[in-house]
Amino acid sequence: MGQEREDIRIEKLTPERLDHLVKVQEEAFSDYIIPIKSSKEFFLDFQRSVGGDLSTVLLASDAGKSVGYINPVIDGKEAWIGGIGVIPQYRSSGVGTKLMRSAEELCRNRGVQSITLEVIDGNDRAQRMYERLGFSASRKFLSAEGKPTRFEGFGPQPKVASFSEVLYLHEKSYMNTCWQRRKRAAVIQSAKGAESYKVDGGFVMIRAVQTSGFIPFLGVLPEARSRGIGTALAKYALTKLWDAGVFKVALYNVNEDLQTQRMLDEFDFKVTMKQIEMKKEL
Ligand SMILES: CC(C)(COP(=O)(O)OP(=O)(O)OC[C@H]1O[C@@H](n2cnc3c(N)ncnc32)[C@H](O)[C@@H]1OP(=O)(O)O)[C@@H](O)C(=O)NCCC(=O)NCCS
Repeated sequence: MGQEREDIRIEKLTPERLDHLVKVQEEAFSDYIIPIKSSKEFFLDFQRSVGGDLSTVLLASDAGKSVGYINPVIDGKEAWIGGIGVIPQYRSSGVGTKLMRSAEELCRNRGVQSITLEVIDGNDRAQRMYERLGFSASRKFLSAEGKPTRFEGFGPQPKVASFSEVLYLHEKSYMNTCWQRRKRAAVIQSAKGAESYKVDGGFVMIRAVQTSGFIPFLGVLPEARSRGIGTALAKYALTKLWDAGVFKVALYNVNEDLQTQRMLDEFDFKVTMKQIEMKKEL
Protein backbone atom coordinates (compact mmCIF):
# COMPACT_ATOMS: atom_id res chain seq x y z
CA MET A 1 0.00 0.00 0.00
CA GLY A 2 1.33 3.45 -0.92
CA GLN A 3 1.75 6.27 1.54
CA GLU A 4 -1.41 8.08 2.49
CA ARG A 5 -1.44 11.65 1.27
CA GLU A 6 -2.36 13.52 4.45
CA ASP A 7 -2.03 16.79 2.55
CA ILE A 8 -4.87 16.01 0.14
CA ARG A 9 -7.94 18.04 1.00
CA ILE A 10 -11.49 17.26 0.02
CA GLU A 11 -13.50 20.38 -0.81
CA LYS A 12 -16.90 21.20 -2.19
CA LEU A 13 -16.97 22.19 -5.81
CA THR A 14 -17.51 25.93 -6.23
CA PRO A 15 -18.87 27.26 -9.54
CA GLU A 16 -15.58 28.97 -10.37
CA ARG A 17 -13.78 25.60 -10.16
CA LEU A 18 -15.99 23.88 -12.71
CA ASP A 19 -13.05 24.07 -15.13
CA HIS A 20 -10.92 22.11 -12.65
CA LEU A 21 -13.57 19.43 -12.48
CA VAL A 22 -13.72 19.09 -16.27
CA LYS A 23 -9.91 18.81 -16.47
CA VAL A 24 -9.78 16.21 -13.68
CA GLN A 25 -12.58 14.20 -15.26
CA GLU A 26 -10.83 14.21 -18.60
CA GLU A 27 -7.47 13.14 -17.13
CA ALA A 28 -8.94 10.55 -14.77
CA PHE A 29 -10.87 8.88 -17.58
CA SER A 30 -8.19 9.18 -20.28
CA ASP A 31 -7.07 5.56 -19.67
CA TYR A 32 -10.56 4.29 -18.86
CA ILE A 33 -12.27 1.30 -20.53
CA ILE A 34 -14.40 3.87 -22.35
CA PRO A 35 -12.33 7.10 -22.58
CA ILE A 36 -14.45 10.14 -21.76
CA LYS A 37 -13.99 13.46 -23.45
CA SER A 38 -15.32 15.90 -20.90
CA SER A 39 -16.43 19.50 -21.27
CA LYS A 40 -18.56 21.86 -19.21
CA GLU A 41 -21.58 21.10 -21.39
CA PHE A 42 -20.95 17.35 -21.12
CA PHE A 43 -20.85 17.51 -17.34
CA LEU A 44 -23.82 19.86 -16.93
CA ASP A 45 -25.88 17.77 -19.37
CA PHE A 46 -25.02 14.65 -17.43
CA GLN A 47 -26.00 16.29 -14.14
CA ARG A 48 -29.32 17.36 -15.59
CA SER A 49 -30.06 13.93 -17.03
CA VAL A 50 -29.56 12.19 -13.68
CA GLY A 51 -31.17 14.89 -11.57
CA GLY A 52 -27.83 15.79 -9.97
CA ASP A 53 -26.80 18.91 -8.14
CA LEU A 54 -23.45 20.71 -8.36
CA SER A 55 -23.51 21.43 -4.63
CA THR A 56 -22.80 17.79 -3.73
CA VAL A 57 -19.76 17.38 -6.01
CA LEU A 58 -16.44 17.11 -4.15
CA LEU A 59 -12.91 17.82 -5.40
CA ALA A 60 -9.68 16.40 -3.98
CA SER A 61 -6.94 18.99 -4.08
CA ASP A 62 -3.21 19.09 -3.46
CA ALA A 63 -2.13 22.64 -2.60
CA GLY A 64 -4.81 24.12 -4.84
CA LYS A 65 -4.32 21.63 -7.69
CA SER A 66 -7.42 19.49 -8.28
CA VAL A 67 -6.47 15.82 -8.53
CA GLY A 68 -9.73 13.92 -8.10
CA TYR A 69 -13.51 14.29 -7.92
CA ILE A 70 -16.62 12.48 -6.83
CA ASN A 71 -20.19 13.15 -7.86
CA PRO A 72 -22.73 11.79 -5.35
CA VAL A 73 -26.30 12.33 -6.54
CA ILE A 74 -28.80 12.44 -3.68
CA ASP A 75 -32.46 11.51 -4.02
CA GLY A 76 -34.20 11.41 -0.65
CA LYS A 77 -32.95 8.43 1.35
CA GLU A 78 -30.99 7.05 -1.59
CA ALA A 79 -27.84 8.23 -3.27
CA TRP A 80 -25.95 7.13 -6.36
CA ILE A 81 -22.33 7.80 -7.22
CA GLY A 82 -22.51 9.52 -10.59
CA GLY A 83 -18.74 9.31 -11.11
CA ILE A 84 -15.41 9.17 -9.29
CA GLY A 85 -11.95 9.66 -10.72
CA VAL A 86 -8.40 10.35 -9.61
CA ILE A 87 -5.76 11.57 -12.07
CA PRO A 88 -3.17 8.84 -12.81
CA GLN A 89 -0.19 10.37 -10.93
CA TYR A 90 -2.20 10.54 -7.69
CA ARG A 91 -3.62 7.03 -7.71
CA SER A 92 -2.86 4.30 -5.17
CA SER A 93 -2.30 6.70 -2.31
CA GLY A 94 -5.75 6.66 -0.79
CA VAL A 95 -7.27 9.64 -2.64
CA GLY A 96 -10.13 7.58 -4.12
CA THR A 97 -10.87 6.10 -0.70
CA LYS A 98 -10.83 9.55 0.88
CA LEU A 99 -13.26 10.87 -1.74
CA MET A 100 -15.59 7.93 -1.17
CA ARG A 101 -15.52 8.38 2.60
CA SER A 102 -16.23 12.11 2.30
CA ALA A 103 -19.12 11.42 -0.07
CA GLU A 104 -20.52 8.88 2.40
CA GLU A 105 -20.30 11.43 5.19
CA LEU A 106 -22.01 14.08 3.10
CA CYS A 107 -24.78 11.60 2.25
CA ARG A 108 -25.20 10.51 5.85
CA ASN A 109 -25.52 14.13 6.96
CA ARG A 110 -28.29 14.59 4.41
CA GLY A 111 -30.27 11.62 5.75
CA VAL A 112 -29.27 9.14 3.03
CA GLN A 113 -29.61 5.49 4.06
CA SER A 114 -28.11 3.63 1.11
CA ILE A 115 -25.68 4.33 -1.71
CA THR A 116 -25.50 2.51 -5.04
CA LEU A 117 -22.99 2.77 -7.84
CA GLU A 118 -22.10 0.90 -10.99
CA VAL A 119 -18.71 -0.38 -12.02
CA ILE A 120 -17.84 -1.87 -15.40
CA ASP A 121 -17.08 -5.58 -15.12
CA GLY A 122 -13.28 -5.70 -15.50
CA ASN A 123 -12.51 -2.44 -13.67
CA ASP A 124 -11.04 -4.52 -10.86
CA ARG A 125 -9.14 -1.67 -9.21
CA ALA A 126 -12.30 0.34 -8.68
CA GLN A 127 -14.32 -2.73 -7.67
CA ARG A 128 -11.71 -3.69 -5.05
CA MET A 129 -11.87 -0.18 -3.58
CA TYR A 130 -15.66 -0.31 -3.30
CA GLU A 131 -15.52 -3.76 -1.71
CA ARG A 132 -12.97 -2.56 0.85
CA LEU A 133 -15.37 0.27 1.68
CA GLY A 134 -18.20 -2.19 2.34
CA PHE A 135 -20.06 -2.16 -0.96
CA SER A 136 -21.34 -5.45 -2.34
CA ALA A 137 -22.56 -6.46 -5.77
CA SER A 138 -26.33 -6.42 -6.06
CA ARG A 139 -26.93 -7.23 -9.75
CA LYS A 140 -25.62 -6.82 -13.27
CA PHE A 141 -26.73 -4.73 -16.20
CA LEU A 142 -25.92 -5.60 -19.79
CA SER A 143 -25.35 -3.56 -22.90
CA ALA A 144 -25.59 -5.46 -26.17
CA GLU A 145 -25.26 -4.95 -29.86
CA GLY A 146 -26.87 -6.65 -32.84
CA LYS A 147 -28.58 -6.11 -36.14
CA PRO A 148 -32.14 -5.11 -36.89
CA THR A 149 -34.40 -7.75 -38.42
CA ARG A 150 -37.75 -7.61 -40.13
CA PHE A 151 -40.37 -9.59 -38.22
CA GLU A 152 -43.75 -10.31 -39.75
CA GLY A 153 -45.70 -10.55 -36.54
CA PHE A 154 -45.14 -9.04 -33.12
CA GLY A 155 -48.49 -9.36 -31.35
CA PRO A 156 -50.78 -6.37 -30.87
CA GLN A 157 -49.81 -3.35 -32.95
CA PRO A 158 -48.05 -0.80 -30.71
CA LYS A 159 -49.41 2.75 -30.74
CA VAL A 160 -47.48 6.00 -30.48
CA ALA A 161 -47.11 6.89 -26.79
CA SER A 162 -47.42 10.46 -25.59
CA PHE A 163 -44.77 12.00 -23.38
CA SER A 164 -46.85 11.68 -20.22
CA GLU A 165 -47.69 8.05 -21.04
CA VAL A 166 -44.00 7.28 -21.43
CA LEU A 167 -43.20 8.87 -18.09
CA TYR A 168 -45.93 6.86 -16.41
CA LEU A 169 -45.01 3.53 -18.06
CA HIS A 170 -41.34 4.10 -17.37
CA GLU A 171 -41.89 4.83 -13.71
CA LYS A 172 -44.03 1.73 -13.24
CA SER A 173 -41.95 -0.72 -15.24
CA TYR A 174 -38.55 0.43 -13.96
CA MET A 175 -39.76 0.72 -10.38
CA ASN A 176 -37.43 -1.99 -9.14
CA THR A 177 -34.32 -1.24 -11.17
CA CYS A 178 -31.39 0.96 -10.32
CA TRP A 179 -32.83 4.22 -9.05
CA GLN A 180 -30.88 6.24 -11.55
CA ARG A 181 -33.04 4.89 -14.33
CA ARG A 182 -36.22 5.80 -12.57
CA LYS A 183 -35.20 9.42 -12.91
CA ARG A 184 -37.66 11.33 -15.02
CA ALA A 185 -34.89 13.60 -16.27
CA ALA A 186 -33.09 10.70 -17.99
CA VAL A 187 -36.29 9.61 -19.72
CA ILE A 188 -37.13 13.16 -20.76
CA GLN A 189 -33.65 13.57 -22.21
CA SER A 190 -33.87 10.28 -24.14
CA ALA A 191 -37.41 10.90 -25.33
CA LYS A 192 -36.26 13.98 -27.23
CA GLY A 193 -35.15 12.71 -30.60
CA ALA A 194 -36.63 9.24 -30.00
CA GLU A 195 -39.94 7.59 -30.93
CA SER A 196 -41.98 6.00 -28.17
CA TYR A 197 -44.59 3.25 -28.55
CA LYS A 198 -46.91 1.51 -26.13
CA VAL A 199 -48.99 -1.64 -25.91
CA ASP A 200 -51.15 -2.81 -23.04
CA GLY A 201 -48.58 -3.47 -20.31
CA GLY A 202 -45.40 -2.01 -21.80
CA PHE A 203 -43.52 0.52 -23.87
CA VAL A 204 -40.42 0.89 -26.00
CA MET A 205 -38.33 3.86 -27.06
CA ILE A 206 -36.51 3.75 -30.41
CA ARG A 207 -33.89 6.09 -31.79
CA ALA A 208 -32.09 6.09 -35.14
CA VAL A 209 -29.08 8.25 -35.93
CA GLN A 210 -28.11 7.63 -39.54
CA THR A 211 -27.21 3.94 -39.69
CA SER A 212 -27.03 3.40 -35.92
CA GLY A 213 -30.08 2.42 -33.93
CA PHE A 214 -30.67 2.53 -30.19
CA ILE A 215 -33.30 1.15 -27.87
CA PRO A 216 -32.81 3.42 -24.84
CA PHE A 217 -35.76 2.02 -22.87
CA LEU A 218 -37.97 -1.06 -23.07
CA GLY A 219 -40.20 -1.75 -20.11
CA VAL A 220 -42.99 -4.12 -19.13
CA LEU A 221 -45.19 -3.45 -16.11
CA PRO A 222 -44.56 -5.93 -13.27
CA GLU A 223 -48.09 -7.40 -13.49
CA ALA A 224 -47.76 -7.98 -17.25
CA ARG A 225 -44.41 -9.81 -17.27
CA SER A 226 -43.76 -13.33 -18.63
CA ARG A 227 -46.41 -13.02 -21.32
CA GLY A 228 -44.07 -12.27 -24.20
CA ILE A 229 -44.76 -8.52 -24.20
CA GLY A 230 -41.05 -7.64 -23.91
CA THR A 231 -40.12 -9.91 -26.83
CA ALA A 232 -42.98 -8.52 -28.93
CA LEU A 233 -41.87 -4.94 -28.22
CA ALA A 234 -38.26 -5.84 -29.06
CA LYS A 235 -39.40 -7.38 -32.37
CA TYR A 236 -41.38 -4.26 -33.14
CA ALA A 237 -38.41 -2.02 -32.36
CA LEU A 238 -36.02 -4.11 -34.48
CA THR A 239 -38.47 -4.06 -37.39
CA LYS A 240 -38.90 -0.28 -37.15
CA LEU A 241 -35.11 0.16 -37.08
CA TRP A 242 -34.77 -2.17 -40.09
CA ASP A 243 -37.32 -0.04 -41.93
CA ALA A 244 -35.31 3.07 -40.99
CA GLY A 245 -32.26 1.60 -42.77
CA VAL A 246 -30.23 1.01 -39.62
CA PHE A 247 -27.27 -1.44 -39.75
CA LYS A 248 -26.60 -1.99 -36.08
CA VAL A 249 -28.58 -1.62 -32.91
CA ALA A 250 -27.38 -0.97 -29.37
CA LEU A 251 -29.30 -1.83 -26.28
CA TYR A 252 -28.32 -0.37 -22.92
CA ASN A 253 -28.61 -1.35 -19.30
CA VAL A 254 -30.90 -4.31 -19.36
CA ASN A 255 -31.09 -6.49 -16.30
CA GLU A 256 -29.00 -9.64 -16.56
CA ASP A 257 -31.64 -12.31 -16.06
CA LEU A 258 -32.58 -15.53 -17.85
CA GLN A 259 -35.43 -13.96 -19.77
CA THR A 260 -33.23 -11.18 -21.15
CA GLN A 261 -30.47 -13.64 -21.97
CA ARG A 262 -32.94 -15.77 -23.94
CA MET A 263 -34.21 -12.71 -25.76
CA LEU A 264 -30.68 -11.59 -26.68
CA ASP A 265 -29.85 -15.12 -27.94
CA GLU A 266 -33.04 -15.27 -29.97
CA PHE A 267 -32.15 -11.99 -31.70
CA ASP A 268 -28.46 -12.93 -31.95
CA PHE A 269 -27.36 -9.92 -29.92
CA LYS A 270 -23.85 -9.94 -28.39
CA VAL A 271 -23.12 -8.52 -24.97
CA THR A 272 -20.69 -5.59 -25.30
CA MET A 273 -20.43 -4.54 -21.67
CA LYS A 274 -21.51 -5.66 -18.23
CA GLN A 275 -21.95 -3.30 -15.35
CA ILE A 276 -22.01 -4.45 -11.77
CA GLU A 277 -24.36 -2.55 -9.49
CA MET A 278 -22.94 -2.28 -5.98
CA LYS A 279 -24.71 -1.15 -2.87
CA LYS A 280 -23.94 -0.11 0.68
CA GLU A 281 -26.33 0.58 3.55
CA LEU A 282 -25.14 3.51 5.60
C1 LIG B 1 -10.82 3.90 -9.23
C2 LIG B 1 -10.01 5.10 -8.76
C3 LIG B 1 -10.95 6.27 -8.52
C4 LIG B 1 -9.31 4.73 -7.44
O1 LIG B 1 -8.60 5.88 -6.94
P1 LIG B 1 -7.26 5.75 -6.05
O2 LIG B 1 -6.97 7.08 -5.53
O3 LIG B 1 -6.20 5.07 -6.83
O4 LIG B 1 -7.80 4.79 -4.90
P2 LIG B 1 -7.02 4.39 -3.54
O5 LIG B 1 -5.64 4.88 -3.59
O6 LIG B 1 -7.87 4.83 -2.42
O7 LIG B 1 -7.05 2.82 -3.62
C5 LIG B 1 -6.48 2.16 -4.75
C6 LIG B 1 -5.27 1.30 -4.34
O8 LIG B 1 -4.38 2.07 -3.58
C7 LIG B 1 -4.00 1.35 -2.44
N1 LIG B 1 -3.65 2.34 -1.41
C8 LIG B 1 -2.46 2.84 -1.27
N2 LIG B 1 -2.39 3.67 -0.24
C9 LIG B 1 -3.60 3.74 0.27
C10 LIG B 1 -4.14 4.43 1.37
N3 LIG B 1 -3.41 5.22 2.12
N4 LIG B 1 -5.45 4.28 1.65
C11 LIG B 1 -6.21 3.46 0.90
N5 LIG B 1 -5.73 2.76 -0.17
C12 LIG B 1 -4.43 2.90 -0.47
C13 LIG B 1 -5.17 0.51 -2.13
O9 LIG B 1 -4.81 -0.61 -1.36
C14 LIG B 1 -5.61 0.14 -3.49
O10 LIG B 1 -4.85 -0.95 -3.94
P3 LIG B 1 -5.43 -2.06 -4.96
O11 LIG B 1 -5.78 -1.32 -6.23
O12 LIG B 1 -4.31 -3.01 -5.12
O13 LIG B 1 -6.64 -2.65 -4.32
C15 LIG B 1 -8.90 5.49 -9.77
O14 LIG B 1 -8.17 4.35 -10.08
C16 LIG B 1 -9.43 6.09 -11.07
O15 LIG B 1 -9.63 7.29 -11.18
N6 LIG B 1 -9.61 5.23 -12.12
C17 LIG B 1 -10.12 5.69 -13.42
C18 LIG B 1 -11.57 6.11 -13.35
C19 LIG B 1 -12.44 5.01 -12.76
O16 LIG B 1 -12.23 3.83 -13.00
N7 LIG B 1 -13.45 5.41 -11.97
C20 LIG B 1 -14.39 4.50 -11.34
C21 LIG B 1 -15.49 4.20 -12.25
S1 LIG B 1 -16.64 3.09 -11.50
